Amino acid sequence: MKYLLDTADLEAIRFCSESFPISGVSTNPSIVRTSFAKLKEKPDFFAHMNAIRTVIGREKAFHIQVTAPDADGMLRDADAILNRVDEQVCIKIPVTMEGLRAMQALKKQGVTVTATAVYGKTQAFLALEAGADYIAPYYNRMESMGLDSDGVIAAIAQMIGEYEYPTEILAASFKNAGQIERAFEAGAQSATMDPSILLAALKQPYILDAVEAFQSDWKSVFGDATAAELD
Ligand code: G3P
Repeated sequence: MKYLLDTADLEAIRFCSESFPISGVSTNPSIVRTSFAKLKEKPDFFAHMNAIRTVIGREKAFHIQVTAPDADGMLRDADAILNRVDEQVCIKIPVTMEGLRAMQALKKQGVTVTATAVYGKTQAFLALEAGADYIAPYYNRMESMGLDSDGVIAAIAQMIGEYEYPTEILAASFKNAGQIERAFEAGAQSATMDPSILLAALKQPYILDAVEAFQSDWKSVFGDATAAELD
């Protein structure tokens, strides 16, 4: 299982990377808008993406989305991202007709492709055939539409196994830790999430209560000295 941060918030990426076992970062235009809205001055997009890369390092996955609606524009965006950030970036492309065209062209060039905005099996299966390295089903958005997110992920995982596609499921669009658990259980290898979900998951009162009880029980026997400080 891999955990990725679905954000362009540099401080959150820095803070979470220090504690959580993070495998990478993903962004899209909406995420960029939200993260940039918190900044006082409008940042340079590529400078900001490079700053994220510096924080996470080259060995982690970094998914950046194209912004053009048409295949030729997507290919130009991909080229700009690969040149102005680095060639290891996974190029995120929505699974539309134009997107599928762009994906196949990029795969011919050996570029790593992430098929995104996936709301169902047909989009996912087409992306598998188009050669996508990652497929990003939108868990919460599907659930909100009354769709069976677990079933969609399980079906993608089944096809990957059955036909030996070299593709990973990078589940996305989460609102809570329970959804992430279910996506992993359904067969997703990776999940990308807002840092707030991870932070909230470990701030549950019962966890804090347990830790507080350990501390007060220890103190009642040994006072303020920690185990390392005992004679
Ligand atoms: O990575 C996909 C994600 O940004 C969509 O998430 O929370 O807008 O449904 P959300």
